[in-house]
Amino acid sequence: MKDASPQTVYLKDYTPFGYTVEHVDLTFRLSPDATRVISRIRFAPNPAATDRTFFLHGEELNLISARIDGAEVSPEVTDKGLTCEVPDTPFTFEAEVEIAPARNTALEGLYMSNGMYCTQCEAEGFRKITYYPDRPDVMATFDVRIESDLPVLLSNGNPGPRGEGHAEWSDPWPKPAYLFALVAGELEARSDVFTTRSGARVDLNLWVRPGDLHKTEWGIEALKKSMRWDEEVYGREYDLDVFNIVAVDDFNMGAMENKGLNIFNSSAVLASPDTSTDANFERIEAIIAHEYFHNWTGNRITCRDWFQLCLKEGLTVFRDSQFTADMRSAPVKRISDVIALRARQFPEDQGPLSHPVRPESFQEINNFYTATVYEKGAEVIGMLKRLVGDDAYSKALDLYFERHDGEACTIEDWLKVFEDATGRDLAQFKRWYSQSGTPRLSVEERYEGSDYTLTFRQTTPPTPGQAEKAPQVLPIAVGLLNPNGDEVVPTTLLEMTEGEQSFTFPNMPSKPVPSLLRGFSAPVVLDHEASGEDKAFLLAHDTDPYSRWEAGRSLARASLIASILERTEPDAAYLDGLKRLVTDPALDPAFRALMMSLPSQNELAQVLHEKGVTPDPDAIFEAVESLLRAMAERWRDVLPALAEEARVSAPYAPDAEQSGKRALGSAVLGLQTRLDGGAAAKAQFENADNMTLSLSALGALVRADAAEDALAAFETRWSGDRLVMDKWFGIQIMLAPPQVAPDRTRALTEHPAFDWTNPNRFRAVMGSLAGNHAGFHRADGAGYEILGEWLSRLDEKNPQTAARMASAFQTWTRYDDERRAKARATLERLYEKPGLSGDMAEMVGRMLG
Ligand code: ARG
Ligand code: ZN
Repeated sequence: MKDASPQTVYLKDYTPFGYTVEHVDLTFRLSPDATRVISRIRFAPNPAATDRTFFLHGEELNLISARIDGAEVSPEVTDKGLTCEVPDTPFTFEAEVEIAPARNTALEGLYMSNGMYCTQCEAEGFRKITYYPDRPDVMATFDVRIESDLPVLLSNGNPGPRGEGHAEWSDPWPKPAYLFALVAGELEARSDVFTTRSGARVDLNLWVRPGDLHKTEWGIEALKKSMRWDEEVYGREYDLDVFNIVAVDDFNMGAMENKGLNIFNSSAVLASPDTSTDANFERIEAIIAHEYFHNWTGNRITCRDWFQLCLKEGLTVFRDSQFTADMRSAPVKRISDVIALRARQFPEDQGPLSHPVRPESFQEINNFYTATVYEKGAEVIGMLKRLVGDDAYSKALDLYFERHDGEACTIEDWLKVFEDATGRDLAQFKRWYSQSGTPRLSVEERYEGSDYTLTFRQTTPPTPGQAEKAPQVLPIAVGLLNPNGDEVVPTTLLEMTEGEQSFTFPNMPSKPVPSLLRGFSAPVVLDHEASGEDKAFLLAHDTDPYSRWEAGRSLARASLIASILERTEPDAAYLDGLKRLVTDPALDPAFRALMMSLPSQNELAQVLHEKGVTPDPDAIFEAVESLLRAMAERWRDVLPALAEEARVSAPYAPDAEQSGKRALGSAVLGLQTRLDGGAAAKAQFENADNMTLSLSALGALVRADAAEDALAAFETRWSGDRLVMDKWFGIQIMLAPPQVAPDRTRALTEHPAFDWTNPNRFRAVMGSLAGNHAGFHRADGAGYEILGEWLSRLDEKNPQTAARMASAFQTWTRYDDERRAKARATLERLYEKPGLSGDMAEMVGRMLG
């Protein structure tokens, strides 16, 4: 039996809380096993509400005493919260509770990480700190007093008086409790100053444990770039005297946008050239921007309830992608986002975990911090911007900030702003928020007289709870090329609203080649049976970088599928076309590296599944391997020159230019290793003077099964650095030959440094197993078993991280009977486990269907 019968919450049941909160005073007497939290909350009846039930959330709290307007009261307490008789006029509620941060292994609420106190309150963690209406539509100003002998004591807002053993903070901006934060510890800061556009001085601090200060420069630079960008592009200024960021080693997610006190997983903020890869630097820059941008899209304007999560997350992801596109290369960013969307969101949207961008029900909200809410949520905003145009988008955003500052909003409010700013009716567009599943778009061409007509058809397969789908608005960006390669129709936006719709281009002197869905203008699967010839033509001539890349991708997909189904040799014409592109010195090396990347094995499994073929993970693995071998053979003559071109002689910088070269170099090294068995990779590993080169060499060696010495050397050198050791654990599983991946995973769980209660370490091991497609899906079920065991174990300590990792099983029904039986047995064993968390029960329950 499950822990407690999980409660399902519905969007349609929303009602406002019966009381408003005018102000909150909190005092913390910190102690690892017995922290006292004393709260003083000023409530008033909410004129907008009818239900006057006074219920305060509270979990795992020991209530010491409670008072209303100074008089002791005895509330009725359950394991979910308390209820109490209250006056029908404004009143002050006070409570003293005791909590034990040192015993908090769920890392939600107030907990400890390496001797430091920190908090994570989103989504519903504040209720583990004190009794409170823990819902985002209750907003209040907070004053906080922290009592502790630790040297650094932080909370939200601006600093107040600081004395021996205590500090005070005051946050003048009304906020929901999920944005509350507290940090206390022995910390050091890199400090800086930012002057806002209107001349206000902001003190910036990035706090870390002693010893990590050399990893803080990049984070502070990224923060300053983000602050400037949000002023220039969105007209948004920062609004407090200080902005603090703290790095924490034990953290369930990437980072958290608490008002004025962002808390980061150290993997999402700490960087140095020795210990971090180019990809790490880029990700850190993006996450710092993301959390900073939340100050306006999330904090100043927040969500009415958790169903509206995409209101802040979709928008903030969209904003951080714009930022990265501006800081680096826009086409490279767009292509990378499409790769990530297909790798993470498509499988979710096409399997048992499919849910709308704005879900309509949930049991555990932590299970809905998903690629659909975040990444598809951002795609929806990208489509809206394309449909209304850039100027109207800016106007709508200005109106959004002006109209809703200080409010807790809904998707309806968001869309209304666009309707008012543009006069457009967005009723149909709204389906993007309510319909789940990935639409499929098919195309037919007709050329008659001089009329060229494209006929599109859209369908969305059924998803859990949604059998019938209505047509969605699809912005389809199209360009047309004539047979000599010139663009005859530049990018044009077709607005599809019907299930089937035709668009005619008159006066076309010859039949053009269409370049469809340019820039990936809608998050759909395009079923376009273009000939290999047309694809090769687009690969050579398309002016839209995304479509050009996609032409190559789809040739690779076709070649791989043919070799899986018909045992054909890799497509030589494709390899030669690609070779011309990859050796073209006029093209950006980063783009060339992306051109060399192949569709993931997981994506190929999905393609086969949709063709009605049961995917065989081993055959897929073999097909990819033989394509890479063929590529290496066929490009043998140009690999040395490419490797030379990818060499960077300037001092290391994690910028777009150098990263692009190293990405190309890494792809080339992968091919070289297939020819030389690892000689070039060994040399690169030995001479590497930065982590990017070191890790790409190590990866190539692991793949070639020639990494034993390098892994040992790497471990010796980096055993003192947690974040680097996460890479060491991860890479040898992720890139292991599939047959050995489960056993290697098991062996590594016995390594003394496998500190599995640390979410980063757990993910490095188990997430990498899940990422090794043929290894995880090994026919004997060993991959499923080991992950199942560890999910069960972690669930007892940290349900949130365990439940997230469980989604590794989301595609289990695609495979053959034997694999399915093994996956099902693992999931059922988990589901039946006594005391299973509600988080895990919801995830496994949905996957079992
Ligand atoms: N709001 C954070 C972000 O996207 C994510 C925090 C999610 N935390 C959680 N426990 N679900 O930046
Ligand atoms: Zn976010």
